[in-house]
Amino acid sequence: MKYWKKLSNAEQDKRITEALSKNIDYKQKVSLGIPASKLDGNVFYEQASFLKEAPLLRTYVANPNHIGCHTLGESEEFFKGTQDIEREVIELLAVDVLKAEEGSCDGYVAAGGTEANIQAAWIYRNYFKQEHNAQQEEIALIGSQDTHYSIAKAANLLHLQWYSVPVHDDTRVIIEAELDKMVQQAAARGVKYFIIISNMATTMFGSVDDPGVYVDCMNRHNLQFKLHVDGAFGGFIFPVSTPESNVNFANPHISSVTLDAHKMLQAPYGTGIFIARKGLMPYVFTKEAQYVHGQDITLSGSRSGANAIAIWMILVTYGPHGWFEKINKLLYRTDWCCKQLDSLGVKYFRYPKMNIITIRAQYVPKAIAAKYGLVPDTHDDNPAWYKIVVMDHVEVEHLEAFLGELRIVSAKA
Ligand SMILES: Cc1ncc(COP(=O)(O)O)c(C=O)c1O
Repeated sequence: MKYWKKLSNAEQDKRITEALSKNIDYKQKVSLGIPASKLDGNVFYEQASFLKEAPLLRTYVANPNHIGCHTLGESEEFFKGTQDIEREVIELLAVDVLKAEEGSCDGYVAAGGTEANIQAAWIYRNYFKQEHNAQQEEIALIGSQDTHYSIAKAANLLHLQWYSVPVHDDTRVIIEAELDKMVQQAAARGVKYFIIISNMATTMFGSVDDPGVYVDCMNRHNLQFKLHVDGAFGGFIFPVSTPESNVNFANPHISSVTLDAHKMLQAPYGTGIFIARKGLMPYVFTKEAQYVHGQDITLSGSRSGANAIAIWMILVTYGPHGWFEKINKLLYRTDWCCKQLDSLGVKYFRYPKMNIITIRAQYVPKAIAAKYGLVPDTHDDNPAWYKIVVMDHVEVEHLEAFLGELRIVSAKA
């Protein structure tokens, strides 16, 4: 690991205190023009004694605005201390988790996986327009049928066609013949440029796509593409559990990745992460953002710098080994649950070394699914699947109670 180290609470506190001291102190510095301030002291009492030991809460009170992207160009001077920590987070994740070369990526902390995915589609749409003179109708988004609905949102917002490729029902693997047919049909309709969304763990199944399947198809048909990986769910687990995978920046076909710290990392909401190879972010440069120092090349506009601090704190509290142990604990619980389901003859899907178990709905009576908070693939009357996501709060005892009820049902059947 080049950057990812474990730090004690005292070390974290020191680093964050230093960062905050480099940000604007509204009490000390006259700043007549910024439409921002610290949190309202009448409501959020800044002398509260617990704040002394809580650097994240101190950051919330200081209320840094991380508008823009801080891994390239210039940024607002007022918040440079905490922007440094955000830069550190992006570089750590790009290099140590996603195997990028040092200094080869840009990125920022987005509102969530949805924003990060839309940011990717926005960049590539503009890239094809600017670099290839592409017409709007010549650009399409493509991904598997298990792809998150944020891509359908992106297609809608950016006026792109969305091609959803069927997967095998049992394995959730892309059906290559269907992909080929779809791409051929799209090309016949005039599509020349594809924005590929390859999943590093789908929402419902935790399945990971092989990006090579898309790359081969595009090459067969001599089509231009850019490939984005949606790792909103899998980004903090799959690279750790499956380090030999090709779903990272060591794969030259992958241009950008979404991660979501507010899922597996248990960070506060508002901690999506977008990381792209250098040279791509400027395709969404908004020249009208004149009042922002540096370029605003993110979808968000104003966003809380405290979110970057929260991600950084979690990463350095665990360190890479602590995180590996935590992931393995969750995988142990998932393995255990799968073994029990096997012994009951219950059919389910589980992608290797992932923590999602997606059970065929016919094995789970609705009342049991509701009692244990299983999530269906659809909220209409007839779901086909229910999923269990083995997060930190899902303990073997909880799984055992659920399995106990399934056992009674299967004994009666
Ligand atoms: C694979 C995947 N992508 C994107 C998203 C969207 O993330 P968010 O809700 O943070 O916008 C999700 C959320 O569940 C997801 O599972």
